Amino acid sequence: MGKTTDGDYVLGVNPEELARLGLQHVIWRSRALELWRKAGLSPGMNVIDCGAGPGFATMDLAEWMAGAGAVIALDRSPDYLRHAGAEAARRGFSNISTLIADAVEGGFPEDWADVIWCRWMLIFVSDLDRALDRMVGALKPGGKLVLQEYLDYSTWRLMPRVDSFELFRNKVMESWHQFGGDPSVGLRLPAALEARGLVIRHVEPTLFVIRPDDPMWRWPGSFEATGPDRLVELGLLNPGDAAQIREDWAKASASRFARMVTPTQIEIIAQKPI
Ligand SMILES: C[S@@+](CC[C@H](N)C(=O)[O-])C[C@H]1O[C@@H](n2cnc3c(N)ncnc32)[C@H](O)[C@@H]1O
Repeated sequence: MGKTTDGDYVLGVNPEELARLGLQHVIWRSRALELWRKAGLSPGMNVIDCGAGPGFATMDLAEWMAGAGAVIALDRSPDYLRHAGAEAARRGFSNISTLIADAVEGGFPEDWADVIWCRWMLIFVSDLDRALDRMVGALKPGGKLVLQEYLDYSTWRLMPRVDSFELFRNKVMESWHQFGGDPSVGLRLPAALEARGLVIRHVEPTLFVIRPDDPMWRWPGSFEATGPDRLVELGLLNPGDAAQIREDWAKASASRFARMVTPTQIEIIAQKPI
């Protein structure tokens, strides 16, 4: 896996981003398991991990299904899927397969999935309507979409306010827009799902106010480590601003008095009618 970016995944496909996704998964894993339980995910089902990346959640899905049923890790990055495939082989999960596909362009199996799990992918798609059409088409009647996406990214702030951090967050959001994504895609999801005939079974926002010693601090914090350089690479920040962001971030992270408001996310379970 090289340093170069893959297609238009704005965060890039490289070992640093892979490690960041791993850390992110550890922080959010318990929420995912709870959502799967609420959605009735069970052994024997057909599941798609849509936008699976390196497959951290895919491995948990296979484990949750106790070796029965089938899990497809779908992503448009062959590098990430190679990692997912190798990890599945190493851990002996024979019910995992990988599928290189673009969620907007299609390539999904039709009427196949009991559950589609999709976390942090719809924020990046350039055409939400087409992606949702493909995903709904891949569900069996009665199948469920289980989503975790950003609802309002602009809530990501430091307390007390830090100007360079506000700039950083705004530039991150700009970079996603520039690549056709929407960092607050969750605002559009319930209506878009209902317009496709799905019934919303569960919806819940998540937002936390945390201190630097909270393990969750490391989740957006890890993005802070690579994000400013990435934005310089994309021409959205100058190196001076990037240095200031890093310095202010290190100060906040070492402060006994700092807090962070996390970017608000939304969890949704939506069911296709039988
Ligand atoms: C932030 S990562 C999330 C990975 C994984 N879902 C997780 O929770 O760790 C976003 C992933 O979405 C993939 N992706 C972005 N747009 C996509 C598209 N249109 N079709 C398929 N995959 C896409 C990227 O390649 C990347 O692996």
